[in-house]
Amino acid sequence: MNKEKSAIWYPYRQHKHPYTPLKIKSAKGVYLTLESGAQLIDAISSWWCVIHGYNHPDINAVITEQINTLPHVMLGGLTHDPAENFANKLVEITPNGLNHVFFADSGSVGCEIALKMVFQFWMNQGNTKKKKILALNRSYHGDTFGVMAVSRPDDSYPSMHRMFKGILTEHLFVPEPKMGFEADPKQLAIDIDLFHDMIKTNHKHIAAFICEPIMQGVGGFNLYSPAYLEKVVSICNEYNVLVIFDEVATGFGRTGKLFGADHAQVTPDLMVLSKALTAGYCGHSATLTTSPVFDGFLSDSFDHAFMHGPTFMGNATACRVGLKSIELFQDNQTLNKIAAIETCLKTQLAPFSHPKVKSIRVLGAMGVIEVYDANDLKGMQAYAIEHGVWIRPFDRFLYVTPPYIITKDQLQHVIDVMIAWF
Ligand SMILES: Cc1ncc(COP(=O)(O)O)c(C=O)c1O
Repeated sequence: MNKEKSAIWYPYRQHKHPYTPLKIKSAKGVYLTLESGAQLIDAISSWWCVIHGYNHPDINAVITEQINTLPHVMLGGLTHDPAENFANKLVEITPNGLNHVFFADSGSVGCEIALKMVFQFWMNQGNTKKKKILALNRSYHGDTFGVMAVSRPDDSYPSMHRMFKGILTEHLFVPEPKMGFEADPKQLAIDIDLFHDMIKTNHKHIAAFICEPIMQGVGGFNLYSPAYLEKVVSICNEYNVLVIFDEVATGFGRTGKLFGADHAQVTPDLMVLSKALTAGYCGHSATLTTSPVFDGFLSDSFDHAFMHGPTFMGNATACRVGLKSIELFQDNQTLNKIAAIETCLKTQLAPFSHPKVKSIRVLGAMGVIEVYDANDLKGMQAYAIEHGVWIRPFDRFLYVTPPYIITKDQLQHVIDVMIAWF
C-alpha cells in the first residue's frame, strides 16, 4: 500500500475522496490542541463522553494508581474491588430496583447484551414466542448487528444501515413520539394510542421495548415528554413486555437529570450505560437489570446461565475511572452546572430564528439547530474550526453537547459561532 496514506479506516467516511482529519496533539479542559498549536473548544465532548473535560488531574491520578496496582484482570473466575465498588455505586445512583450490573466495553455491545438477556429471559421461562423487539422510529442503538436491527432513523434521515435489510432480523417499529418535551396534549394522546395499539396487537411476540428515554439522539435530537415515557412503561408492564432504556447518550446528566429515566421517575427492567460512564477516558459499558430479570436466569440447569463474557468487562482501570467520574459529578454539583448550561442555551440559542432554520431544541446540556435542508450546513464545520470550535453537524442537525465544565464565556462563543454561520 501507499505508505504516505494513512492506514486508518475512518468512521462514517467515503474514502474515495481525499481526507485529512485534523490531527490533535493534546487536550486539556474543554480545549483540543492541534499540531499548529491552535486550540478548539470541543463543543460535542468527543461524541458526548468527555463530561469533566480532557486530562482531568483527579482522573489521571486514579488511573496512575490503578495501573501500578492492577491494570486489568479477567472477570471470569476472578473479581476485584474496583469492579465490585463500581457496580455497587451504579446500583446506588440508578433508578430504584436496578440491582445487577453486567459490564462490557462499548455502548453497542451494552445494548446487544440487553437484547440477548431479554430473549434468553423469556426462553428460560419456556416462552418461545417472544422473538421480536419493539423500537421507535428514529431510534439509534449502535452499529453492531443486533442493534442495527433495532435502529431506524425515519425516512427524512436515511438510515445508514438500510442496505442490510434482508440480512438483519426484522423487528417491530412504532412511530416516534412527536409531542415534544413540553407534551402537546393532543399529540401525546395520539402517540400513546399508536404505542398502545402496537403492543395490544403484538405483545405475545414482543420480548422487550427499547428506547432512548426523553431524547432520541442520532435520529435527530427528538425530545419527548416524561408523560409518554411513564405511560409506555406502564403499558409494557401491563402486557408483560420488558423495557430497556438505552441511556448510552442520555445518561450522566445530558438531559438535565442524572438519567433520562429520572424525568419520569420510572425504573426500566434493563438500563444500558456507556459513553460518559467512563468520562471519555476509555470504552466501557454497564447493562443493569432488576432482580426479577436476574432471577430469570437462576436455575439448576447451566443452560439457563447468561453465556457472555467480553475480555475487558469490568476492566479495573475503567472501573476506577468510572467511580472517580461519579464522585466528581456529585462533588462538583454537576447537575447545577448543567442547569446553567441549559439556561444559557435557552436564552442565547433558542430565540434565534432564520428562514433556513426549521426548529431549535434545548434540553439539559444539549442544544440543536435543525435546518430544512442539509446543504445549508455544508461547510459549517470548517467555518467553526476557523473560529476556534470543534463541532460535527450531520444531516440537518447542528448540535452542541459540551463538556459540563464549559464556562459561560466559552459556551457563548460556541453559540455565537453557530448563529454567525447563518
Ligand atoms: C443511544 C446510543 N446507543 C448506543 C450507542 C452506541 O455506542 P458505541 O458507539 O459506544 O458503540 C450510541 C452511540 O452514539 C448511542 O447514541
